[in-house]
Amino acid sequence: MTVSTRMIPTDRLRRPMGSLRLSVTDRCNMRCRYCMPEEEYRWLPRSSILSFEELARLTALFAGLGAGKVRLTGGEPLLRHDLPDLIGKLAAVDGVRDLALTTNGILLAERAAALRAAGLGRVTVSLDTLRPERMTEFARSDRHADVLAGVSAAVSAGFDSVKINAVIIRGYNEDEVLPLLAFARAEGVELRFIEYMDVGGATRWTHGQVVSQAEILAAVAEVHGPVTTVAARAAAPAERFRLSDGTTFGVIASTTAPFCRDCDRSRLTADGTWYLCLYATDGINLRDVLRAGASDAELTDLIRAAWAARADRGAEERLAVPGRGALYQVETLRADPRREMHTRGG
Ligand code: GTP
Ligand code: 5AD
Ligand code: SF4
Repeated sequence: MTVSTRMIPTDRLRRPMGSLRLSVTDRCNMRCRYCMPEEEYRWLPRSSILSFEELARLTALFAGLGAGKVRLTGGEPLLRHDLPDLIGKLAAVDGVRDLALTTNGILLAERAAALRAAGLGRVTVSLDTLRPERMTEFARSDRHADVLAGVSAAVSAGFDSVKINAVIIRGYNEDEVLPLLAFARAEGVELRFIEYMDVGGATRWTHGQVVSQAEILAAVAEVHGPVTTVAARAAAPAERFRLSDGTTFGVIASTTAPFCRDCDRSRLTADGTWYLCLYATDGINLRDVLRAGASDAELTDLIRAAWAARADRGAEERLAVPGRGALYQVETLRADPRREMHTRGG
């Protein structure tokens, strides 16, 4: 089925639905300080986690409304058992034209070939440091070598694209902007620098730790000379740049220069709660509607109506907050773990 533009709903800011982020598990085998700094977490109950059949059914309904870009996230999505089976199901869904995965890379080396064979198109690996000891301290994981092996395996597996995400934080890794760029260039993958965001989960966020897009570009230009802008898809979060030697990279400036006015994405937690914005306080429980026996038409109507009423511009609103600090304290997150970045899929 091709989706006719007449069927694609737009929201109150005239933004079409274009992409869906599916969190397939809230569990993670890392504890990045900007995402999961606490000692303990409240996990979603297992009985609430959507099955592959439920995920594929919902994905088909979203794709029918225009969300042809689908990205699997977590937590760490590779912790979900038999993920290639889900990828096979989603790749076969009418209207899904781009299927991608965001992973911390720990388990990627052993899974890359199977994921590709199942129909996964693109992979993004999070890699914030080239120094194993920093990762041990900052993300409580000693699996740095596995992450590097994961990047190489993804390149060898022949995905349509492999990217690296690096969150840059002052006092942690701002001295690695250039080494990370050199590493990505040597691996033949595109690096995206990400500004530290005050999302749920980032309970230790301070404005002073944010390394802005302007600072990142200045650090790159100081060594590589003038950096030129490359045109990117309007709704993409990253602005793309090119060095004089042809190397391209991106910057996701969600903190200092949000892209809300073009945002075409929504996200589904592993328990089927649908959020219209990364910063949204509340979501819509699609799981209960689904499990109560709703028809495809009923679910589609619900999704279409909620999208038509969407006016969220969370990151822009955060920009306007005076004396901006962490979005949530830990008690608020414990009361509703769906407000966590690792639950709503990064
Ligand atoms: P592409 O399809 O390759 O453009 O993927 P992506 O960049 O959308 O996905 P990825 O999982 O790599 O996300 C990169 C970063 O974008 C995340 O780390 C977040 O910092 C940011 N991001 C993702 N979704 C949102 C969102 O809905 N709003 C905002 N403001 N930032 C987001
Ligand atoms: N700020 C910016 N990016 C974040 N991520 C997780 N938490 C934050 C945060 N507070 C990123 C991860 C991963 C992506 C899915 O989200 O590094 O690349
Ligand atoms: Fe780190 Fe991603 Fe795990 Fe959060 S979900 S702790 S960003 S690896």
